[in-house]
Amino acid sequence: MNGGMLHDLVIRDGTLVTVSEIIQADLGIQNGKIATIGQGLKGKDILSARGMLVVPGAIDTHVHLEMPTPATVSSDDWRSGTMAAAHGGTTTVIDFVEPEARQSLLAALQQRKAQAEGRAAIDYSLHMTLSQADEETLAEIPKVLQEGISSFKVYTVYEGLRLDDHGMVQVLAEVSRYGGLVIAHAENEAIVRHATQALLRAGKTGPESHPLSRPAVAEGEAVERMLSLAEYTHVPILIVHVSTQRGAEAVGRARRRGQTAFGETCPQYLLLDDTAYSQPDFGGAKFVCSPPLRKPEDNQFLWKALAEGEVQTVGTDHCPFFFVGQKDLERGDFTRIPSGIPGIEARFALLYTFGVQAGRISLNRWVEACCTAPARIFGLYPRKGALLPGADADLVLFDPKRTVTLTADFLHENVDYTPYEGLKLQGYPVLTLLRGEVLVREGEFIGTQGRGQFLKRTTKKW
Ligand code: URP
Ligand code: ZN
Ligand code: ZN
Repeated sequence: MNGGMLHDLVIRDGTLVTVSEIIQADLGIQNGKIATIGQGLKGKDILSARGMLVVPGAIDTHVHLEMPTPATVSSDDWRSGTMAAAHGGTTTVIDFVEPEARQSLLAALQQRKAQAEGRAAIDYSLHMTLSQADEETLAEIPKVLQEGISSFKVYTVYEGLRLDDHGMVQVLAEVSRYGGLVIAHAENEAIVRHATQALLRAGKTGPESHPLSRPAVAEGEAVERMLSLAEYTHVPILIVHVSTQRGAEAVGRARRRGQTAFGETCPQYLLLDDTAYSQPDFGGAKFVCSPPLRKPEDNQFLWKALAEGEVQTVGTDHCPFFFVGQKDLERGDFTRIPSGIPGIEARFALLYTFGVQAGRISLNRWVEACCTAPARIFGLYPRKGALLPGADADLVLFDPKRTVTLTADFLHENVDYTPYEGLKLQGYPVLTLLRGEVLVREGEFIGTQGRGQFLKRTTKKW
């Protein structure tokens, strides 16, 4: 159709991968958008993609950049975190607004947007955290939606963030009324509190107690409960960072009974297990995240759930803290280790090596889980996550033959370790484009600094 058009840029001879197709074609870009997919396209600039996979820019819907905790702040800011993401082929992130107690949601949203503006290297959006169920907060929900924030985060744990069941029902009902999506961190608070107290009383204060303080049953119960409350209030729900077989099975059951329910897992729950907490010299602290790393059987089940569609997306829950000076400050009490691990940069490549190369998921499923399903679920599709005329030209040239050994030095995250240290990957992004501009080429950031745009998202009919 546009075969005769002289495009701004043509990506020539690549293997284009979408959720349903793998085709050899050229891709023409005009004014930052995908204009044409076809053969023999003409362009002012030509980029050869021979031997490369050409895929939509990956979308990470779960990151915590410069996130304050009671004692510190996550170590990647909007600049460093999004640059690292771009190196790994991620071109859109969704982070969180966490209003302070009694702070207006809209005021908190404006503050958080101001932090990102002019600093984010890639496009971004935000989820609104709802940690209070008072009248003022509930009344602001439709106004938040009008600002282009269509997903609302709730917690069943963490003092200051968690809602009790009645507050939860109120919040879910209100989000449902206005057509929003709920996303939930689901662990049973009473179990976590009881197990933690027992461990501390017994003097078991090291990082190896962390997984024991948050057992699989705590996730299983809370995921079931959140799905039930969402069913009652008729609200679409996504359970974030599903870490257990039990959690994934619960999401699968809800979907089979017709509920609009989704599950997200993360590379750490697919690839790492709770033996990491026994690393010497307090090294287990590097892996303290909530929910904790689980058993190899959970890893295997989550791969299967991802392949078969019981779990739809893979986010990172990127929440980095330096080992030296942040994670290791309070060696005498595992509950005081800042919770969270880095992962924003390597997700796409990890999923390729250990998913596609290992025969656990197909190429199409890889693109779906990391790019297209996040866009669809979070109201960004087809602008993002798609190789379609009219979509933003957010693209990755991914070399399936490139070998890389992951180390903290190789990565661009602002943190002194990676939980994936030493892993050998086959397949890595070699070029990342954001809206038609090359951001990263062969490991070098060459794009315009701070060009990321805030993305207004819409609600959708499920
Ligand atoms: O331990 C974690 N995951 N920290 C980040 C906040 C959260 O719970 O997702
Ligand atoms: Zn969480
Ligand atoms: Zn998180």
